[in-house]
Amino acid sequence: MLAAQENRFQYVYFTLSGLVACTMLILFYISMRTTINERLRDDLKLLQRQLIYEKPNPHWNYNNSWRRIGNTTLRHEIFSAYFDVRTDIISNVQLDEQLVTVGSLRLFAILPERLRDSRLSCIVRYADFSSREIVAEEAAAMHEVHNNSFAAWSIMCPLHVRRESPLRLPQLVALSYQSNRLSHLSPSFIQISYPRNMTQMFVRSRPTLSVCVGPLQENYANVLRLVEFVEMYRLQGASHFYFYYVEASDEVRRVLDHYQRLGLADVFEWNVQAHLHDLHYAGIVAQFNDCVYRASVVDNHRYAAVVDLDEVLMPLKHNSLAEYLRQCDEGRTSAFVFRNVFFHRRDSNDTFNAPAHTLNRLLYTQSKVRRTLEVMPAYVRSKLVVNARAIVEMGNHQVYRTAPGYVDHVVHQTVGLLFHYRDKCINCKMLLIVDYTARRFGSLLFDRVDATCLQVFMERRGICALA
Ligand SMILES: *[C@@H]1O[C@H](CO)[C@@H](O)[C@H](O)[C@H]1NC(C)=O
Ligand SMILES: *[C@@H]1O[C@H](CO)[C@@H](O)[C@H](O)[C@H]1NC(C)=O
Ligand SMILES: *[C@@H]1O[C@H](CO)[C@@H](O)[C@H](O)[C@H]1NC(C)=O
Ligand SMILES: *[C@@H]1O[C@H](CO)[C@@H](O)[C@H](O)[C@H]1NC(C)=O
Ligand SMILES: *[C@@H]1O[C@H](CO)[C@@H](O)[C@H](O)[C@H]1NC(C)=O
Repeated sequence: MLAAQENRFQYVYFTLSGLVACTMLILFYISMRTTINERLRDDLKLLQRQLIYEKPNPHWNYNNSWRRIGNTTLRHEIFSAYFDVRTDIISNVQLDEQLVTVGSLRLFAILPERLRDSRLSCIVRYADFSSREIVAEEAAAMHEVHNNSFAAWSIMCPLHVRRESPLRLPQLVALSYQSNRLSHLSPSFIQISYPRNMTQMFVRSRPTLSVCVGPLQENYANVLRLVEFVEMYRLQGASHFYFYYVEASDEVRRVLDHYQRLGLADVFEWNVQAHLHDLHYAGIVAQFNDCVYRASVVDNHRYAAVVDLDEVLMPLKHNSLAEYLRQCDEGRTSAFVFRNVFFHRRDSNDTFNAPAHTLNRLLYTQSKVRRTLEVMPAYVRSKLVVNARAIVEMGNHQVYRTAPGYVDHVVHQTVGLLFHYRDKCINCKMLLIVDYTARRFGSLLFDRVDATCLQVFMERRGICALA
């Protein structure tokens, strides 16, 4: 009896130790694999920084526009492609005697929301006209399709290159997939955007703030609002603006040309006319993703504010947005989320603080001083300033995917808000309170708006039209 029990104990004992040993072996194996994988990625990062990169086309001036892919009746389009050095967003990296992963290509396209193909490829072409096909590691419609038949797509093709010096990088890329046979037979190549300054590829991003402005459409004509918007963000420390236009009045074009000449703005034709009715808000999802990649890859700006012309990100405790970021960004934040409050255009015009000599008195941030008391929850109509290097997929009110190690930060409502100047109120009965915060920019803003309007509209004695 006792012996039998002892045997049973022994049996249980051996089984348990066997189990423990197996678990330890498995854990050891897993940890070995992860350390090998981590070491591989560290080695790769080191090697990646030691290689010599030459810009394949130093003369291209980054003027993208939408191009048809293959069969034109399908209305598939491609806009841009970026060389992305972040290897931590690639699942299958290579590092051996011959091949090394130096980064990836990120492409933005308009394709049917439900594309039949399970596989898409990038065809890359080199300066010597040789070409190569790379199967995409990621290819999908981005978030926020809103029940439209077409969607903005993001496609990522890893770039494994031969270890030679200097490295050969591709100049052009095209998308290719079965359901659009012509995309393979006669590829629509577009230029790949590399950094303007290749030597800055691996240095820290410049702590500068750029502004991504939603597409100007429906013959946008509010010249005064455009000038006020740019000058307000300049006062807040923004150093560069990216504009995309579908359709805008001649006067608006003159203002954009003016800022472009000053080197303050890039202006891109957003020729999505073929998709105005079957793509969410003129392809805005492709627009802000393109803009964030452009700010990061091409110009090395650390920050991008993604906003519309009626939205002002307003710090409440710091002198400017740039100052807020300088003091509060500890480096691992993907996005600063500013919660929304409304001001209404129908509200009375209070021009009390406009100096007597001011030509353009009706500035929207200065004449509207009542806002909704209720601060909307984070991510509902919120707008963001992102650390552009952290972003993989950007949304309108939130970030959908970041590089490993970054998280969002919701800005406390006493520290910053999104001032949203709407033409129509959403709920006109909402409680309003007086808020003079934007007026601290008043005196400088009136002067700068007048100065710009004088430079651009001399013949109208410096009056910017208010549509
Ligand atoms: C881009 O700019 C170059 C040179 O200014 C011009 O030749 C070319 O037509 C432009 N391309 C587009 C698509 O605007
Ligand atoms: C282009 O697509 C249309 C519509 O699907 C199709 O009818 C046509 O045959 C295609 N053309 C070519 C050259 O593949
Ligand atoms: C999506 O669109 C289809 C037809 O285009 C319509 O029948 C359906 O109700 C829409 N769904 C939503 C959620 O809007
Ligand atoms: C590129 O960047 C390097 C270092 O960041 C700088 O020394 C060089 O002047 C820059 N070149 C141009 C053309 O701006
Ligand atoms: C504010 O001024 C604009 C432009 O002069 C005018 O069209 C609008 O009716 C005014 N709003 C109110 C509430 O008085």
